[in-house]
Amino acid sequence: MNFTGAHILSIEQFQREDVERIFAVADRMAPYGRRQRVTRVLEGAILGNMFFEASTRTRVSFGSAFNLLGGEVRETAGFESSALVKGESLRDTARVLSGFSDVICMRHPQAGSVAEFASASRVPVLNGGDGSNEHPTQALLDLYTIAKELAQRQRSIDGLRIAMIGDLRYGRTVHSLSRLLSLYKNIHVLLISPPELAMPEQYVEQLRSTGAQVTISDQLLANINHVDIVYSTRIQEERFPSREEADLYRGKFRLNQAIYTQHCEPNTVIMHPLPRDSRSAANELDIDLDDNPNLAIFRQTDNGLLVRMALFALVLDVVDQVDSCAQAVRWHSARQL
Ligand code: CP
Repeated sequence: MNFTGAHILSIEQFQREDVERIFAVADRMAPYGRRQRVTRVLEGAILGNMFFEASTRTRVSFGSAFNLLGGEVRETAGFESSALVKGESLRDTARVLSGFSDVICMRHPQAGSVAEFASASRVPVLNGGDGSNEHPTQALLDLYTIAKELAQRQRSIDGLRIAMIGDLRYGRTVHSLSRLLSLYKNIHVLLISPPELAMPEQYVEQLRSTGAQVTISDQLLANINHVDIVYSTRIQEERFPSREEADLYRGKFRLNQAIYTQHCEPNTVIMHPLPRDSRSAANELDIDLDDNPNLAIFRQTDNGLLVRMALFALVLDVVDQVDSCAQAVRWHSARQL
């Protein structure tokens, strides 16, 4: 695909070579993410960071990635601080904000809303999550992390065995990740959820039609013993009709160190898009896993910075200028990704 000026709305846009291009550019961003060098390649550019639904890491990661490339960030967080509460349409909002920005990132609770916004935007729009539909940049950072973790085990993504666990119905990260995995060969995906929260059929069909083996189960322990990755997810309470209904499913698929030791292969990588729900009723990924070297959840968030820098550099067509606008950092930095 031609990245220059493109909206990034869905994994459906990508071929495998596009994903590999993003990952190659993300690798080149590592010295900047590690604060060994700074670049001013986007000096003067403005990111409109529009988050109409709660977020910690996606919002700050997009903003930090843009800052690390030398650009400025303007934010709106929440409906209540935007004119959407006065009845302004997404299309009008897009016309206005794209006059102020060079690129826009957006999260919104309704599926399809970011695409609707993008259709009226005069600048590229990156989807930071639209309802239970997709979260494409999360899937890209997840797969980038998977590739890095597997490389340490002399493996590639082809042949991956992954268990996706939890709320697969409303969890947009697993929707986008399953679409991304459809681009690879000999994939085995184990979908573990309560039947009511099963992966929607369209994603299962896409995996199967592209040659992936798909196993569907509501049993955790019997399905995590021969996988490379366990990818746990939170019950997406905000998408349920009521909190009481979400409570029915909380805490059903808990992973902790004892379960991991007993049921997983010793090198199994533990992932989660975060936030994990650490309240006692849920606790899908226990904090007693925090000392497990195979816990990759914070490597995911660090990698997300590099992937989002790569997307900005590609969409704004500055990949080949990043290094020529760079210098060593002036401050002491102990950061390592
Ligand atoms: N993974 C993710 O989307 O996290 P936030 O909701 O904090 O952005």
